[in-house]
Amino acid sequence: MRELVDILRAERHLDSGGYKALLACDDKGVVAHLHEQAREVGDEVFGKGIFVRGLVELANVCRNDCLYCGIRKSNTAVERYLLTTHQVLQCCQQGYDLGFRTFVLQSGELPRDKAPWLVDLVGEIRQRWNDCAITLSLGEWPREVYAALKQAGADRYLLRHESHNAEHYSRLHPAEMSLKNRLQCLVWLKELGYQVGTGIMVGSPWQSLDNIVEDIEFIEQFEPEMIGLGPFVPQHETPLGHYPTGSAHLTCRLYSIFRLMFPHALIPSTTALNTIDPQGRTMGIMAGANVVMPNLSPSDVRARYALYDGKASTNAEAAEGIAQLETQLATIGYHIDWGRGDHGGKC
Ligand code: 5AD
Repeated sequence: MRELVDILRAERHLDSGGYKALLACDDKGVVAHLHEQAREVGDEVFGKGIFVRGLVELANVCRNDCLYCGIRKSNTAVERYLLTTHQVLQCCQQGYDLGFRTFVLQSGELPRDKAPWLVDLVGEIRQRWNDCAITLSLGEWPREVYAALKQAGADRYLLRHESHNAEHYSRLHPAEMSLKNRLQCLVWLKELGYQVGTGIMVGSPWQSLDNIVEDIEFIEQFEPEMIGLGPFVPQHETPLGHYPTGSAHLTCRLYSIFRLMFPHALIPSTTALNTIDPQGRTMGIMAGANVVMPNLSPSDVRARYALYDGKASTNAEAAEGIAQLETQLATIGYHIDWGRGDHGGKC
């Protein structure tokens, strides 16, 4: 089994049986070797610097109804909000002053008539902070909207594919959504010149190891610049609220596998991971992740952006807690890299 790790490092690829064996492996020594090799490869490319991105959660309004998500439109228990342009710019200013050079604008899938507002907002941020990268995480839109957002100054787009198995995808999403459309969006984003991120929830209901192997193989051929992976965390107001939480260990194992496959990729140690395990953030970094995304949203709306129960949003998870994040990283020999942190292979 150790050899599988070494082959993955040397060739950046395994066959599907190899990936499955690594995912299923219960030998602690092999898993430790996997994490160690991944960290070594990450350190070779990025050194000991961890990139930070300031996350602004624009709105919890959503036209979509994903079965796992706490801000799905059917959830009537959520008090909806939409930040004003002024509030978003204030968050960015605060982030800029703290040292952030990437802003991630994330929101529920807004009504289609909000597209011009989003385009203007991106244009405004681009104009004010020309030295910053703008990452969007706004869900599915027509190609023209992605093009207009890019034109306005956006650089990167995060859109997890959630599952590359059509049957599994359809169990997690309402009938109006399709894997085909999700994949089409990802292709458009790439064609338009975005640095693209995709990924999955680890341990989502009905997900099998074979499903995860399919996801790995999709990501392998899609070659995203960013790979976003967090454990599934139930949200009690959703139809999937009684399913078990995903595994932190499996999530970290995937960080390592992807680090070995893509030494230059940007892989966040996610909030979901840190939510289910208080050591989650550092565990993720020790497994090869190299990005963290502290929250810049106004503190009074943070609780309302509740994709899942217990979402961490304070202390080192919050932009104000940056000193705490520094300290935490220092305990494992890492430090914040305040650069824009473009994809290691390109810039
Ligand atoms: N648990 C974990 N992650 C979730 N997301 C949405 N709902 C949940 C949940 N219950 C993730 C999805 C989405 C990202 C923005 O948040 O993968 O792509």
